[in-house]
Amino acid sequence: MTNNTKDYSKYFDFSNAKILSEDEESTRVRINGREIQIKSQPDYREGKRRGKESIAVHTDFSIPEDMENFGEGKRYHVQTYGCQMNEHDSETIKGLLEQMGYTGTEDRTQADIILLNTCAIRENAEDRVFGELGHLKVLKTERPGLMIGVCGCMSQEEGVVNRILQKHGFVDMIFGTHNVHRLPHLIREAVFGKEMVVEVWSKEGDIIENLPKKREGMRAWVNIMYGCDKFCTYCIVPYTRGKERSRRPEDVIAEVRELARQGFKEITLLGQNVNAYGKDFEDLDYRFGDLMEDMSKIDVPRVRFTTSHPRDFDDRLIQVLGGGGNLVEHIHLPVQSGSSAVLKKMSRKYTREHYLELAAKIRKVVPDAVLTTDIIVGFPGESDEQFEETLSLVREVGYDSAYTFIYSPREGTPAASMADDIPMEVKKRRLAALNALIKEQSRRGNEALTGRTVEVLVEGESKNNASVLAGRTRGNKLVHFEGGPELVGTFVQVKINDAKSWYVKGDLVETPVFAG
Ligand code: 5AD
Ligand code: SF4
Repeated sequence: MTNNTKDYSKYFDFSNAKILSEDEESTRVRINGREIQIKSQPDYREGKRRGKESIAVHTDFSIPEDMENFGEGKRYHVQTYGCQMNEHDSETIKGLLEQMGYTGTEDRTQADIILLNTCAIRENAEDRVFGELGHLKVLKTERPGLMIGVCGCMSQEEGVVNRILQKHGFVDMIFGTHNVHRLPHLIREAVFGKEMVVEVWSKEGDIIENLPKKREGMRAWVNIMYGCDKFCTYCIVPYTRGKERSRRPEDVIAEVRELARQGFKEITLLGQNVNAYGKDFEDLDYRFGDLMEDMSKIDVPRVRFTTSHPRDFDDRLIQVLGGGGNLVEHIHLPVQSGSSAVLKKMSRKYTREHYLELAAKIRKVVPDAVLTTDIIVGFPGESDEQFEETLSLVREVGYDSAYTFIYSPREGTPAASMADDIPMEVKKRRLAALNALIKEQSRRGNEALTGRTVEVLVEGESKNNASVLAGRTRGNKLVHFEGGPELVGTFVQVKINDAKSWYVKGDLVETPVFAG
């Protein structure tokens, strides 16, 4: 299943590398005195390819026998950067490590293995990881037995792997987003071979079912699909996460049913573009709306999903969401820009008008819908007028909150070859203006809740005051109220009496109903 390509010099600066051996399985090199086994490496051209091969679903995963107790008496620490998809991948990584006998620790100085599950979406996410590698080098010098691994989206980038090989030779393994399940094998090779092991697959990606997952709390993430075929011009995800491929409905439904049985209160269905769910099924006419309808029949109190693409958000889905029940009325619908011209350059494949129509349609069928979004400012060539169009769209849609970003060129994407011509101070000014508007709208949305009694899933104590509990409404609003720790994990009714910019305060109005 590896996609070893021997022509490594295309991607890596091997001018100072000595080739030790080459065979079908791997290439061994020495760089700056460090021996490295390259089993396979990232390759953007491969990562971008979208072939017609059908997706293979593997259901036969197991930990190799000789690694089953390898982690006994050892501790792991996994540090996660980026989106919920990465958070969820870290749950798989932890699940695998625990099946090997490792136990988790928050204290890095106690860990025998530290894995950085990285994010490539913007440059600042990458800078943080390289900064962290600097700290880990100190730990590794103090304790040479410590194993350090880099995985996730950054590992899928050619430039990143090259930089680690050249400058961070103390790293023990690098693996990507498609071969997380290979972790036990990679640990074995790094430990027994005493060399850095690089295994990053760039092929379109299969689906591996039955991987263990370490879930915590009352909310659970469930992958419904992997990858993205949209190729928005600024975005690295289609390269780092591979081709769009959907899990079979029966596998998703069985997993959600099992989580409901275990007592989870909220399920979030995950995919880079959930609205494309099912498009890749050759034998089945079953799409995201059908899946959500099936979710509504499962006895779990709340079901969310993220992330949507406006282009594929169809009427069938809106109609199913209008049914309410356990399908909550929060829709995260990234718009990226309010200007049709910018959207075109971003290759988003919808216009401002189409987006506004869609938002209006959703509001009509789901009257209480809380809409949130993602916006990029300072995309190449974005004029003041085009940015104003973003502000006016934000007002018109009436988002309750938004994730806002300054455009960050990503090597290998089409936008990276457009002139990044908006000065940083202009980008920052636009971001500040946008954030001020969103803050004002968020407060207004929160004010609309005052006087109302809402259902809150209690998540835990608030950060600053242990007698204050924090939870979320169906619309994902953060609520603070006074109550005891026994309420954590339950649904309560809270009457809202005060609105802040980013949360609301209220009073408990009822004795809790202990669901499940
Ligand atoms: N620069 C800035 N923001 C980006 N995003 C994706 N790629 C980039 C980039 N190159 C943002 C988009 C996306 C969110 C997850 O990150 O808004 O929806
Ligand atoms: Fe990136 Fe666009 Fe795919 Fe979202 S839809 S992951 S922004 S390419």
